[in-house]
Amino acid sequence: LRNKYLAAIADAADESALETLRVQAVGKKGEVSLKMRELGKMTPEERQVAGPALNALKDEINSALAAKKVALADKALDERLRAEWLDVTLPVRPQRRGSIHPVSQVWEECTAIFAEMGFSVAEGPQIDTDWYNFDALNIPGHHPARAEMDTFYMHRAEGDNRPPHVLRTHTSPVQIRHMEKHGAPCRIIAPGRVYRADYDQTHTPMFHQVEGLAIDKDISMANLKWVLEEFFSAFFEIEGIKTRFRASHFPFTEPSAEVDIQCSWEDGQLKIGQGDGWLEVLGSGMVHPKVLSAAGVDPAEWQGFAFGMGIDRIAMLKYGIPDLRAFFDSDLRWLRHYGFGA
Ligand code: PHE
Repeated sequence: LRNKYLAAIADAADESALETLRVQAVGKKGEVSLKMRELGKMTPEERQVAGPALNALKDEINSALAAKKVALADKALDERLRAEWLDVTLPVRPQRRGSIHPVSQVWEECTAIFAEMGFSVAEGPQIDTDWYNFDALNIPGHHPARAEMDTFYMHRAEGDNRPPHVLRTHTSPVQIRHMEKHGAPCRIIAPGRVYRADYDQTHTPMFHQVEGLAIDKDISMANLKWVLEEFFSAFFEIEGIKTRFRASHFPFTEPSAEVDIQCSWEDGQLKIGQGDGWLEVLGSGMVHPKVLSAAGVDPAEWQGFAFGMGIDRIAMLKYGIPDLRAFFDSDLRWLRHYGFGA
């Protein structure tokens, strides 16, 4: 019996085999236990010999079981360590990290530069009423500017005769919403998405603008020019960039100006901030009295400037990107080529 069990325990492959052996040998109905029960039928002399022998056997089997259990656990651990071994000297696999999209980056740069000049950020809805997008900005229903803007109109249910909502065609409605709520004086920018039904190399149906608005008692075009030259110098990281104001017309400003920045073409390369060429970058002007009134600000007391600039457009200029549409293709190779992908 002893040899049989000690050999079987030594050969046991795993813990469940050990447990089977334990039950067979020293379990309640195990072979050794049954033998111990027979002690009662023995003569005292026989019992004196068999008793201690059986007890010793039981102890021996139990400690063999325990020892084997430890050995099996050691072996399992060894195997795991061998299997899970790793070579820390292997070169790492390259990891692709996400990165900021150029439009987001320029958006943030604009916010930061204007913040230093005391402009806070205002926001408005991308779906707006035609009152905020047009009427309040002195663009009445018949005005050609409405047609020119290639507006996306939201569909209304049949029988609903309220004027339709529009996808805002510019960030200028935020001027109205801000002044309505906070009054004058104010100094804000409003970056955001705008929409026009237009598509070619320099137009996408969704693009980004940053609106500027500064209202106080005596703000003038001179302040506008200073703010913009500060901005462009900081944005393009070139000191003393010059701007040129060209008389223009917007219904919501009077007078109005389109603003160009200084540039040159060298060997087909556009250089910002030098030379005697000019590049149009934004529309601006003194906020029209009717616009102030529409927003609940008294034009007899307050005046100021507004401007609207294409974020994508200045991003194209800064990073030398020729096609606006590429911004919205989500092509990682393109992003990496312009230094934006990781
Ligand atoms: N809203 C005008 C546009 O989208 C830009 C603009 C803003 C012009 C503010 C003047 C003042 O073209």
